[in-house]
Amino acid sequence: NPEESIRPHRLDDYIGQKDLKEVLKIAIAAAKSRGEAMDHILLYGPPGLGKTTMSLILASEMGVNCKITAAPALERPRDITGILINLKPGDILFIDEIHRLNRMTEELLYPAMEDCRLDITIGKGQTARTRSIPLPPFTLIGATTKVGSLTSPLRDRFGLIQRLRFYELDELTLIVQRTADLLQTPVTLEGAQEIARRARGTPRIANRLLRRVRDYAQVKVMETVDQAIAAEALELFNVDPCGLDWTDRLVLGTIIEQFRGGPVGLEAVAAATGEDSKTIEEVYEPYLLQIGFLNRTTRGRVATEAAYEHLGYAV
Ligand code: ADE
Repeated sequence: NPEESIRPHRLDDYIGQKDLKEVLKIAIAAAKSRGEAMDHILLYGPPGLGKTTMSLILASEMGVNCKITAAPALERPRDITGILINLKPGDILFIDEIHRLNRMTEELLYPAMEDCRLDITIGKGQTARTRSIPLPPFTLIGATTKVGSLTSPLRDRFGLIQRLRFYELDELTLIVQRTADLLQTPVTLEGAQEIARRARGTPRIANRLLRRVRDYAQVKVMETVDQAIAAEALELFNVDPCGLDWTDRLVLGTIIEQFRGGPVGLEAVAAATGEDSKTIEEVYEPYLLQIGFLNRTTRGRVATEAAYEHLGYAV
């Protein structure tokens, strides 16, 4: 995984999310001084903003292990029980897409989170018995793009509920410069800014674009990534000056051309574009909403004037 080598390992190397870092610094210091596991933490926000990275940082700051998994991998009861039983005191369990847990798995988590206890059923029907197994104290970090889809019993068991926000341009520029440094790719300030501007407020995208620009510069035998090279490369890869990719433009163009700008329901947009509706909703829409190209109304999605102008349609 190319992301591993460029992830920051300490809280002080993590750029942006200032409020979140303040809150977590206090949680770390408090847990350490009491010699306890940290409280359970729910991180929510669009994908690619650093939820997994933050969990790994918390584990290194606390000096514990971090077991990373995702709800779709926890289908059978034995998937989650196997993980819980193998945790060491203070360990962090990171569950991505936690809003997708099935009911049985979720119900196994309740006593585990609340009382460090695993309640399992042995056998079936008449002969079924329940047994309680004590667990070491641990920290569950749940990550989700859709905090509203969590059941309230699960949400209520998190001591900290924190949102990650899209990054500012200057923060993304610093991230591009930091990654370029690690990849030993010389980049000018303007080059880093050009990549940051097209990264949709998202570090994962910034780093991905940097790798594409780096390949381009290498093939063109350019020593240093400057603004012209960055812009040229990203045009070639179909990332426009606002950072919209082919799918973003397809979604907006479809709403404008086939639905007269909306309002139109999400499922109709999904059917017309051939994209998965969950992906549109969780991956594409958040940034389009953020930059004011799309509105969500009670009657459906609406393309804004800014979207018409950006895509070159008459308003
Ligand atoms: N790489 C990805 N996200 C980062 C962040 N928030 N800070 C530093 N490096 C990063």
